[in-house]
Parts: sequence; C-alpha cells; structure tokens
Amino acid sequence: MSIHVVARLDEVPPGTRKVVEVAGREIGVFNVDGELFAVRNRCPHMAGPLCEGYVSGAVSSTTPGEYHFDRVGEILRCPWHQWEFDMRTGQSWFDPARVRVRAYQARIASGASLVATDEAPATTTDAAPPAEGMVPGPYVAETYPVSVEHDYIVVDLLSR
Ligand code: FES
Repeated sequence: MSIHVVARLDEVPPGTRKVVEVAGREIGVFNVDGELFAVRNRCPHMAGPLCEGYVSGAVSSTTPGEYHFDRVGEILRCPWHQWEFDMRTGQSWFDPARVRVRAYQARIASGASLVATDEAPATTTDAAPPAEGMVPGPYVAETYPVSVEHDYIVVDLLSR
C-alpha cells in the first residue's frame, strides 16, 4: 500500500513541520501556508537529517543590483553542509540534473473520506442473516455510529 496517513492536520499547522516514520523510512511533512510537502529525511550527500534543516526561499535576479526573494518556505537547507533542495520537486539547487532528494505527494484527507474507503462495518440493520440452523439470541448489544471528525495528512510513497 502506498498511501499512508501520517498525522492529524492540526499537528502540523502552517509554518511547522513534523518528521514521521512511514514504511521504515523517515519523512518530513511541511505545512507551507496550508500547502503540504513531504520530503525524505535523508540528505543524498552524506545522509544528514535533511528535514531538520533551515527552511528558506529562492533568490533570483534578472539584472545586476535587482533581486527577488520568493517561494518563501519551499527551499530546505540540510543542517550538515547546507545543500539546498526544492521541497516541491526534491531537486537540488546546485546540481538539479543529478542530485535530488525523494519528495512525495502529500495531501489533506477528511477522516470521513478515509473511513469511506474501507469496508463499511456491518450494522444490526444490514448484518448478514444467520447461517442456516442458527437462531438469534434474545439479547442485543448496544451499538453506536462512529464518525471521524478530523482532517489528516496523507502521503503517497509512489508519487513523484
Ligand atoms: S549531509 Fe546534507 S549537505 Fe551534507
């Protein structure tokens, strides 16, 4: 299965991150003004804890003396030797053709939508009839409807 629920959305509010373990690998989930990014927490240089690094933006210039600072919060700098990576794609900035870190698709899913994808549990009203020869007993346990009210962060390990 490639889709994993990694956190409740309110655990990673805008401007924060959380490192989670998914299928034996550490992944950093970042909330950048409500947009989610997921990056492997292993720098391709010397395996440093990339997702613990400083988050910055990109500086560009078309004319000497003028510069633009944009994509704020989308550039991740490794804490060990300061290699920088684009969280959106995983590409490095110094050698984008050859060096990249694994980036994954991350999205928000409501608890209700996640439950809806599972097999719906049987209820007393839609339970299968008893097998032949069986007679329902006189007692019925109380049951309650269950709902999942929160939003969750979902990461797809096969994406990107
Ligand atoms: S281990 Fe990340 S830059 Fe060296």
